Amino acid sequence: MSYELILTDVRGDGPLKAGVITLNRPKQLNALNDALMDELGAALKSFDADDGIGCVVITGSEKAFAAGADIAAMASWSYMDVYKSDYITRNWETLKSVRKPVIAAVAGYALGGGCELAMMCDFIIAADNAKFGQPEIKLGIIPGAGGTQRLPRAVSKAKAMDLVLTARMMDAAEAERAGLVSRVVPADKLLDEAYAAAESICGYSLPSLLAAKECVNRAFEAPLNEGMLFERRAFHALFATEDQKEGMDAFVAKRKPAFKQQ
Ligand code: CAA
Repeated sequence: MSYELILTDVRGDGPLKAGVITLNRPKQLNALNDALMDELGAALKSFDADDGIGCVVITGSEKAFAAGADIAAMASWSYMDVYKSDYITRNWETLKSVRKPVIAAVAGYALGGGCELAMMCDFIIAADNAKFGQPEIKLGIIPGAGGTQRLPRAVSKAKAMDLVLTARMMDAAEAERAGLVSRVVPADKLLDEAYAAAESICGYSLPSLLAAKECVNRAFEAPLNEGMLFERRAFHALFATEDQKEGMDAFVAKRKPAFKQQ
């Protein structure tokens, strides 16, 4: 499939490869409109369904991961326009249904919907020039794709309130201290670091990757005892896979495992 607002690529040499999606509306700093989100959703679904893909990397440009939802497109909308069109849920939530690990590699601005998009990924690797924020309050609205919900879970209520109510931006160092990003790297090393992380993920067993992602996400949806039970069941289930035998046999034999992805 050909895309106009994103670029796709496949990287890696192993049996499982990384699918790379680059947001590509540079003149608008990757502002997220319906067309772009539809393309992003289609690319994500396609990588998720591809047995040769083990992990997905979403990135933007050096200047902007994404500067938010497209303000020009939204400016004239009425309440019913936005409500009827199911804006946000229709094509933004596709990312949440992806079973494979998704890494956000963020350089430059990740604002509004851009920050929310990055937060929907499984973890964020930030360039040292990254800036995160939820500046919707300046537009007379509030975050609409999870900013008021995922940000407090990631960075605490105090910092989320600060960002959402003042619209100030948080730099990469502050974002790492606050727990929003997993690591900060020099801007010119961002993609190398993200691809290296993707490559190590792609070297593992897909059944355990899917289970690990599902279980960590469960921590945000369930009380601790339910989450623990969910984790234990998934842990038990992995003993039914060939890859558990291979992983443990390889450790005992002091050799590299050759996972069969089943
Ligand atoms: N939507 C549409 N266009 C945008 C945009 C956005 N979110 N952000 C930037 N652009 C456009 C600008 O209009 C400008 O276009 P022109 O060249 O045609 O004028 C171009 O991108 C470059 O932007 P600037 O000239 O403003 O660049 P800058 O370097 O001076 O500033 C910036 C960069 C601080 C990111 C600034 O562009 C900005 O504040 N952008 C808006 C950020 C924002 O408010 N995001 C939240 C959007 S609402 C939302 O996301 C709702 C939700 O929760 C889903």
